[in-house]
Amino acid sequence: MFALITSGVLALSFVLAAVLKYKFIAKKKSLLGRHVLVTGGSSGIGKCIALEAAKIGANVTIVARNESRLLSALEEIKGQCLNNDQKFKYLSVDLAGDYSMVKTTLNIAINEMGPLYLFINCAGMAICGTLEEVSTNDIMKMINTNLISTIQATKAIVDEMKQNGFGSIVITSSLASFCGIYGLSVYSATKFALRGFAEALSMETKSFGVKVTLALPPDTDTPGYANESKDKPIETLLISATAKLFTPEEVGRKILQDTLNGCFFSTVGLEGHMMTISCAGMAPYTSYLELICQVFCGGILRLITVYYQYLFDKIIEKCKLEREHKKI
Ligand SMILES: NC(=O)c1ccc[n+]([C@@H]2O[C@H](COP(=O)([O-])OP(=O)(O)OC[C@H]3O[C@@H](n4cnc5c(N)ncnc54)[C@H](OP(=O)(O)O)[C@@H]3O)[C@@H](O)[C@H]2O)c1
Ligand SMILES: *[C@@H]1O[C@H](CO)[C@@H](O)[C@H](O)[C@H]1NC(C)=O
Ligand SMILES: *[C@@H]1O[C@H](CO)[C@@H](O)[C@H](O)[C@H]1NC(C)=O
Ligand SMILES: *[C@@H]1O[C@H](CO)[C@@H](O)[C@H](O)[C@H]1NC(C)=O
Repeated sequence: MFALITSGVLALSFVLAAVLKYKFIAKKKSLLGRHVLVTGGSSGIGKCIALEAAKIGANVTIVARNESRLLSALEEIKGQCLNNDQKFKYLSVDLAGDYSMVKTTLNIAINEMGPLYLFINCAGMAICGTLEEVSTNDIMKMINTNLISTIQATKAIVDEMKQNGFGSIVITSSLASFCGIYGLSVYSATKFALRGFAEALSMETKSFGVKVTLALPPDTDTPGYANESKDKPIETLLISATAKLFTPEEVGRKILQDTLNGCFFSTVGLEGHMMTISCAGMAPYTSYLELICQVFCGGILRLITVYYQYLFDKIIEKCKLEREHKKI
């Protein structure tokens, strides 16, 4: 028991060291004159990444479908610019639609705004419910928005980035790509898939000088989150209530910072850091400290994840009993 507690404390201090490293060592990088393109940049986390990029001098393009939301987000982003030479543009396209439209649209962005320095995939959505409750239409919507959009958009720009020999691609997944959650089966499936996509893409682009970052946001207070929470099963609500709800500003800022620092995993919060350490698998390693944590804390963190699973199972069991009780 004593050994267990000692190693637990040791594991946590490593995690804390990792968190502190990000807080204090990370230097504020400049994006002066660089082109940053954000898909899903009209709302939530994507909009906050675009705002942060504008603050440090980037020329920013945002891509989404709804023009009126794009227009008002772009006004907000322009308002955060560092100087008057920065350029801003929005483009409307359905990234899950016809590939030639996606390709044409992203080419326009590159031609007008310059070679891509950061390409940030942030378009995505969740529809909650147990598998039998989710319609086949909603299943296709999630697969198309989360997976197909990201794959099509990235395919459209990757060749040019490899030829340029620089740049970073961000794939926005979720902590649900480490951990399947009740009421989010199809969503988790699309986010697990994005992790595989990011790992393979990273291997394909590394020797060309193009980096890949897998963003793993925790629950974040965005318009998308508010919408998906409307039909969350009580189990899903109670499970997510065991972790903190983050603001899109802090999540967006952290994704941009980790991307500029060349990290493969980007997350915020204690749970997020614990999960990137315990679920490292064969992910590319991008920092020695992170590798040391993974090697020395993996075992004890596995025990902590089992404790969380026990808590989640208890929640689900309790809800099931309450449902049965109501029926009688
Ligand atoms: N919020 C969270 O708690 C949370 C947690 C983990 C991961 N994430 C992930 O983080 C990303 C951003 O989430 P968010 O909560 O900030 O979402 P959000 O507020 O709903 O914003 C989603 C953005 O994606 C765009 N979009 C959706 N479908 C598109 C399509 N087919 N083509 C082009 N653009 C499209 C939307 O604009 P239009 O509708 O106008 O196209 C909007 O700009 C998503 O990938 C999400 O899965 C979020
Ligand atoms: C990007 O912004 C800078 C100013 O920050 C500007 O001088 C440059 O021309 C812009 N690049 C492109 C391709 O428009
Ligand atoms: C676009 O967004 C605005 C503001 O949220 C909304 O009123 C409008 O109905 C949307 N348009 C479409 C075509 O979805
Ligand atoms: C909001 O949720 C509904 C149903 O859960 C879904 O059909 C719709 O696409 C969602 N809207 C957005 C903008 O995510």
